[in-house]
Amino acid sequence: MSPGKKVTLLELARMRAEQEPISVLTAYDASFARVLDRAGVDCILVGDSLGNVIQGRETTVPVTLDDMAYHVSAVRRGSSRAMLIADLPYMSYHNRDVAVESSARLMQSGAEMVKLEGGTPSIIDSVQALTDLGVPVCGHLGLTPQSVHQLSGYRVQGRSEHARETLIRQSHELVTAGAAMLVLECVPVALAGRIQAELDIPIIGIGAGREVAGQVLVLYDLLGLQGAHSPRFVRNFLVDGGDIQAAVERYVAAVKQRDFPSDREAFLD
Ligand code: KIV
Repeated sequence: MSPGKKVTLLELARMRAEQEPISVLTAYDASFARVLDRAGVDCILVGDSLGNVIQGRETTVPVTLDDMAYHVSAVRRGSSRAMLIADLPYMSYHNRDVAVESSARLMQSGAEMVKLEGGTPSIIDSVQALTDLGVPVCGHLGLTPQSVHQLSGYRVQGRSEHARETLIRQSHELVTAGAAMLVLECVPVALAGRIQAELDIPIIGIGAGREVAGQVLVLYDLLGLQGAHSPRFVRNFLVDGGDIQAAVERYVAAVKQRDFPSDREAFLD
């Protein structure tokens, strides 16, 4: 797409239809948001991963709606081109009334889409309520970090027949309820590719291979700032030299050219 053009849902749909890969990165403040916007990142996600990389917490569970609203408004001031997606934090969308109230706060802080994790009936109901009220929604299935304790840790999802079927079914239910985008995290390449082939909306993968419409990474991982354990799907784009701006531009180019992720950065089964 042309460099200065505002990214909208229509633009994302066009990119999906024309098979132009969508680049997504997280940011949590105005300065980094400016870098991402200049680099041509299509969507900026104010992820609740800020609990890990900004607040130094073990999980995203302690992140609050106040935390999210603060960082969304900071990112809003730094970006104008990319679509701004905000994570609904832990227990802020478990029923439709709470989801609507929480989303109103994030949309009024500057978000243009909210993201929520899971695909159980209460989540689907929240997605439907938000869609009915004109709030664009991005789903998030596979490894859903807010459920890390239920999942017994950060592990690849969708490996058993039952888990595969559940993921496929929940993806369709999210779309039927109105989700405009879906993040798939840590799922085998073939399963992610199959779900993308069945859905019209773009899937943004993280640890889900190349057969999806776009990719997302946590900005600090891309800059080599991750902690002791670096997940397999992370690539350091700063290591080849240059400055942060150049590293983010390399990421965008690698996504657009389908050079990222490689097979080694994905889960093949
Ligand atoms: O919180 C986050 O940054 C996310 C991405 C890892 C997809 O949800």
